[in-house]
Amino acid sequence: MPADLVIGAQWGDEGKAKVIDYLSKEIDIIARYQGGANAGHTVVVHGKKYIFHLVPSGVIYPNTICVIGNGVVLDTDYLMKECDDLCKEDFDVYNKLYISDSCHIILPLHGIIDAHREKNSSPGTKIGTTGKGIGICYADKMMRIGIRTGDVLDEETLRDKLKLFLARKNEELVKLYGVEPVGFEPIFESLKKFADKFKGKIINTSYYLNEELRKGKRVLLEGAQGVGLDIDFGTYPFVTSSNPTTGGALTGSGIGFQHLSKIYGISKAYATRVGEGPFPTELFGEDADNMRKLGHEYGSTTGRPRRCGWFDLEMIKHSIRICGINQLVITKIDVLSTYPTIPVGIGYELNGKRLDYMPSCGMDKVKVIYENLPGWNTDITGINRFEDLPANCQSYLKYLNEKIGVPISIISTGPDRKDTIVM
Ligand code: GDP
Ligand code: IMO
Ligand code: MG
Repeated sequence: MPADLVIGAQWGDEGKAKVIDYLSKEIDIIARYQGGANAGHTVVVHGKKYIFHLVPSGVIYPNTICVIGNGVVLDTDYLMKECDDLCKEDFDVYNKLYISDSCHIILPLHGIIDAHREKNSSPGTKIGTTGKGIGICYADKMMRIGIRTGDVLDEETLRDKLKLFLARKNEELVKLYGVEPVGFEPIFESLKKFADKFKGKIINTSYYLNEELRKGKRVLLEGAQGVGLDIDFGTYPFVTSSNPTTGGALTGSGIGFQHLSKIYGISKAYATRVGEGPFPTELFGEDADNMRKLGHEYGSTTGRPRRCGWFDLEMIKHSIRICGINQLVITKIDVLSTYPTIPVGIGYELNGKRLDYMPSCGMDKVKVIYENLPGWNTDITGINRFEDLPANCQSYLKYLNEKIGVPISIISTGPDRKDTIVM
């Protein structure tokens, strides 16, 4: 059977988890492939809200198996807490979660360095990270000094690697950041506890996923963040440190590309972003406050107010091009219900010239060209048949569809699983 993929087409928080939960009813295995606990993935079922950070969003279904792929940077303390909390909700998570033996482990010192770098950044260079140590851990991975999940399975290996790692990092902490060195024992004990809790579950998930696909199992790959935050194709340097795009889904899960089938690109009917960086269609002042209020736009991980703005066609086309998105999902269309007119960003100009695509550099300087579409002035929350949407709402969606050229396959009209239109 094929593997499907869910990718955020904007700057994260597009409603990926809602879509993943919806699709998961027909899926055997859900696998996260990049990012870490910087993700905040919200699922609402029968009015009850769950927010996942590391555990894949499909965990709610009783028969789905969940996988944390090798591309994820794993805060093991955070994972144990998240799993313990899910157990209290009666989800049998310890029995249905496999973790790649090649995930790089995030330790508290990664968060300390992340916070320190942000606090001491010069004007204009602060990224507005989630403070979870994500970029610092990926940097250690690239420096080839990181501790991996497979290392915790053997006590002697762990002892040796952790000693070496801490010697290097403590030097960095003291000399570069002027903070206290961290001790060996508490980290060693916590990692042994992690190894104990997930005994038998830390495996070669690339082999596992490919074998299960060969046997006919259905796999869904869960992206975190979004294309605008991709380290290569996002608004660098105001990005995260991984590849949420399709390439990252393959390297972060270790499945062969021939398995990929449906590639869902998720986008809000407008746009948001948390943290610093260019956002061409951004609204300010009262306009932004109003949209934030209507969409309850506060970060699921940090609680920070999200910046809000209009739908940006050029950015979505960029995401489609890079990821091979063949199914578009539009979420939060209900949030636009009260606007008499809805502007859509249809293109960019830079230095007086119309651009054909989203530029890699100069996103902070582009001027957006807008087209205004009529609103529908009716609450559409919870509608689950396209025919029942007001005519102007249907026209808005058809307009996006025509301009983008990829079919809209799902429309979300509210946070709950049931508030969904399948085209
Ligand atoms: P993710 O990170 O992409 O999974 O998205 P988040 O969970 O961080 O943020 C999306 C927010 O929008 C969550 O609070 C969802 O419950 C909510 N949401 C998802 N789809 C819809 C929708 O169609 N309408 C409304 N009003 N809220 C939605
Ligand atoms: P989900 O999966 C929205 C943003 C941060 C910051 C930048 C770098 O819920 O869509 P990091 O901590 O990754 O080094 O921060 O990326 N960011 C997100 N924004 N949704 C997310 O995840 C995000 N994860 C990171 O706000 O701008
Ligand atoms: Mg989120």
